[in-house]
Amino acid sequence: MTGTPTREIPERALRSLLLSLSHQRALGRAAVRVPLTRPMVGRFVAGQRLDEALDALDRIHGAGYRTTVDVLGESVSSAEEAGVAAERYLETLGALADRGLERNVSMKLTQMGLDIGHATVRENVSRVLRRAEELDAFVRIDMEDHAKTDATLAIWRELRPLHPETGVVIQSALRRSPADIEAIIEERGRVRLCKGAYNEPASVAHPDKADVDAAYAAMMERLLVDGVYPAFATHDPALIRHAVRFAREKRIDRDRFEFQMLFGVRRDLQERLLRADYRVRLYVPFGSEWYPYFMRRLAERPANVLFMLRAVAREGLPRDGSGRTGSGQA
Ligand code: FDA
Repeated sequence: MTGTPTREIPERALRSLLLSLSHQRALGRAAVRVPLTRPMVGRFVAGQRLDEALDALDRIHGAGYRTTVDVLGESVSSAEEAGVAAERYLETLGALADRGLERNVSMKLTQMGLDIGHATVRENVSRVLRRAEELDAFVRIDMEDHAKTDATLAIWRELRPLHPETGVVIQSALRRSPADIEAIIEERGRVRLCKGAYNEPASVAHPDKADVDAAYAAMMERLLVDGVYPAFATHDPALIRHAVRFAREKRIDRDRFEFQMLFGVRRDLQERLLRADYRVRLYVPFGSEWYPYFMRRLAERPANVLFMLRAVAREGLPRDGSGRTGSGQA
């Protein structure tokens, strides 16, 4: 990043701006219609349609990665939309099984109707979990902003008996997370640990990155020692080195945990870990509702904004509108 104009812009302010734009529904509706955005989005999103995502998953599995599939969408505003989102998960699970691909999905509760009411979200999540139980699939419930943490953990606890192969996500940015980790360890639940992708107030979250990282390292150690097959979702080389070193010291085998990374982010690191025989799972999103997901990815690394604009200027728009500017993930 040295020498780029982005350096002149305070990163924290830009990150905040991008995150607040991620909630602008009208902007999102406009953005998905603009062809200019497609090549940029294609870096982080495996396709707009299920068949495109399945082809990408074939390639990613072929390269040796594990995957979890996210049918993009969140914050739906009607029970009908939430029902449609649940249907799309059922369809995706069926398609993964039919194609012989790994059956592992990640979903957001606001997509399943969390903001609409308990009965709606409960009904939709139950449908997905029952199907996952039939197909022997793993379901991860993603974590959204701190206002949803209690409700998300409550739904997970309530519905886990339907399908025990259901895990949750804990964010090291939140001050409450060490206590949540201890409770989940006690319950023998499966955790994906991440830093947290949302704009949170200092009353509930560590404002300084160094504290978020230190909390991550401490919870990672707890999960390595006492957790059930924890997943470490990060592209942070220092934290990955920490996990590798700690696991080695404690003689924790490589098959007792996994690393997770996002489709299109730090492919160099993904490959390095895979070559070193670590389990690496890629989070593979697809669908037309990519706007908030995409904006969070830009916010995580504001220099992405500049890189993407440069790529578009250099490579232009693809004639087929496929959104591919490079060689794809795998
Ligand atoms: P950090 O932000 O410190 O980045 C470390 C390095 O990684 C950077 O220096 C850069 O090189 C690279 N990097 C990170 N993000 C990048 C990007 N977008 N583009 C390019 N390079 C980038 N969050 C959440 O709140 N709820 C959830 O359920 C999930 N789920 C989830 C699943 C998986 C598999 C992953 C990998 C991440 C999530 N997240 C998430 C997102 C997570 O909280 C966090 O915002 C991002 O992973 C970025 O944080 P890092 O840990 O990578 O560290």
